Amino acid sequence: MNDVDSTSLRDLLVARVAERELGSRVSVCGWVAKRREHGEHLAFLDLRDRSGIVQAVVPGSLDVRSEYVVRVTGTVSARPEGTVNERLVTGRVELTDCEVEVLSVAEAPPFQLDERVEVDEAVRLKYRYLDLRRDSMQQNLRLRARVNAALRAAMDAQDFCEVETPLLWAPTPEGAREFVVPSRLHAGEFYVLPQSPQIAKQLLMVGGFDRYYQIARCLRDEDLRADRQFEFTQLDLEASFVSQDDIMGFVSRAVLDAAEVATGVRPERIDTMTWAEALDLYGTDKPDLRFGMVLQDLSAAFAATEVKAFAAPVVKAIRVPEGASFTRSRLDALTDQAKALGAKGLAWFRVGEDGLDSPLARFLSETEAAAISGVDGACAGDLVLVVADEHALACRVLGALRLALGAPPVSEPPYRYLWVTEFPMFEGLDDDGNPIAAHHPFTMPHPDDLELMGSDPLRVRSQAYDLVLNGWELGSGSVRIHRADIQATVFRSLGISDEEAESRFGFLMGAFKYGAPPHAGFAFGVDRLVAIFAGAETIREVIAFPKTQSGADPMTGAPKEVGARQLRDLHLRPAVKG
Ligand code: AMO
Repeated sequence: MNDVDSTSLRDLLVARVAERELGSRVSVCGWVAKRREHGEHLAFLDLRDRSGIVQAVVPGSLDVRSEYVVRVTGTVSARPEGTVNERLVTGRVELTDCEVEVLSVAEAPPFQLDERVEVDEAVRLKYRYLDLRRDSMQQNLRLRARVNAALRAAMDAQDFCEVETPLLWAPTPEGAREFVVPSRLHAGEFYVLPQSPQIAKQLLMVGGFDRYYQIARCLRDEDLRADRQFEFTQLDLEASFVSQDDIMGFVSRAVLDAAEVATGVRPERIDTMTWAEALDLYGTDKPDLRFGMVLQDLSAAFAATEVKAFAAPVVKAIRVPEGASFTRSRLDALTDQAKALGAKGLAWFRVGEDGLDSPLARFLSETEAAAISGVDGACAGDLVLVVADEHALACRVLGALRLALGAPPVSEPPYRYLWVTEFPMFEGLDDDGNPIAAHHPFTMPHPDDLELMGSDPLRVRSQAYDLVLNGWELGSGSVRIHRADIQATVFRSLGISDEEAESRFGFLMGAFKYGAPPHAGFAFGVDRLVAIFAGAETIREVIAFPKTQSGADPMTGAPKEVGARQLRDLHLRPAVKG
């Protein structure tokens, strides 16, 4: 075999273009995707490697089965007229006169590796190493690698320095439950796996790394969903002496570069909207801009209403195109959904040629009926849904119904990127009446709202911003507090005592005493971005070895019990299961 070139199918693809390769003898390694016998003297074998499939024609019979690993040595030949397969990258050539060497035998796989066969996800995850051989997983993980490379290149080009931060860390205040790791050398003490490199990157700013980034693994013990795993990856960055706009510029460049690499098209722009506008128009802080059904404010028309259901601080409505055909039971289900979200009720109006059809229609004044009929350019055949309530509640309820009735699958193009700015500093009050930080406690309040901190904290805006794509939160960041006096005020507002602040974040506050530069940063979820580009509805499709919805790994069996000896070393007692 000395005069034979080892090759991959990718090389054969080149051979297809460079006809001069035809006739050369090559050897290709891979897995048997399919085998067909043609009588006793001819067998066809589809050989698969990372780059695709090639047909090998073998004289004589063949003792190989699906998923055997083989080395095929054959002559690169043009396929005979009429047998060209344009769907395969190598479909114009085949290997003829092949010798087959079995490198590894294989049992019959538990499911067909053919892309067209639907396989239960639990089975796919149990045999993930086989699932990874399937074309979609190959493509997804390769896409992810290209996105990572584009992100790195974009950050390097913007003069950012990649720094790795520890996985064994102390608690970080990001709000999710943390994974803790018992210490062997320090009995009864624990490390915490970082929810993000938040504090480490702020310390890097104090350390003079004025432009830091990392493709960072983060760990959060939270309930898993389509867009959430325990372990996920962020493009995390932080910079000193910069403004919010600078950070948004750095991130936009990285995301747009990645989008171009992944989709072949560079998005034209990223829109910007304030949090207040997002809530008012879309009823959410992560608006999906791919479709209309924008929330309309009918409060003026209902200012003097005599209809009790509409006597509320605001009256908001959405138009559901062609929704007049909804059955009564579907409308009842929507009403139940609105109530489950906190609304007192949901009013619906079918728009017809001769006016509105609804149990409430006859109670409306002319102005009110005209306002409803005119919502968002409604026309006959549409449905108008109305919620009257406190502003935030009415918006959130209609925002949720808008998504339920109109949102396409998250990964469906077009890709609509959106910056949401001026988030509120606090998102509500906890049981003790203390405000809850909307982002994290190191976020700088809006300079115009500083004096409201004591008197009306829920009205304080922050210098925090999110990036949204097709209704998914892709990432978030903020300008940080670098002044001890403002940090103390924020901790106090959050109900964090001086002692608690000292014990939890003393090392950060200590560092800030030694010359903290003004700084700001951002992090976005690489898993979410890649999932959308991959056309996947869950981030599990772009993670090599994800956990199931219940946090288990059916392949390794994790989480698992460990031996008594290991527990003793870690100064732990076995849990009493009950
Ligand atoms: P945040 O907590 O908003 O901000 O996280 C940033 C982004 O990380 C992704 N993400 C997740 N992806 C998958 N599974 C999860 N469980 C998960 N949790 C979060 C999301 C999210 O938008 N330190 C701050 C950033 C900063 O202020 O610089 C932070 O981590 O895409």
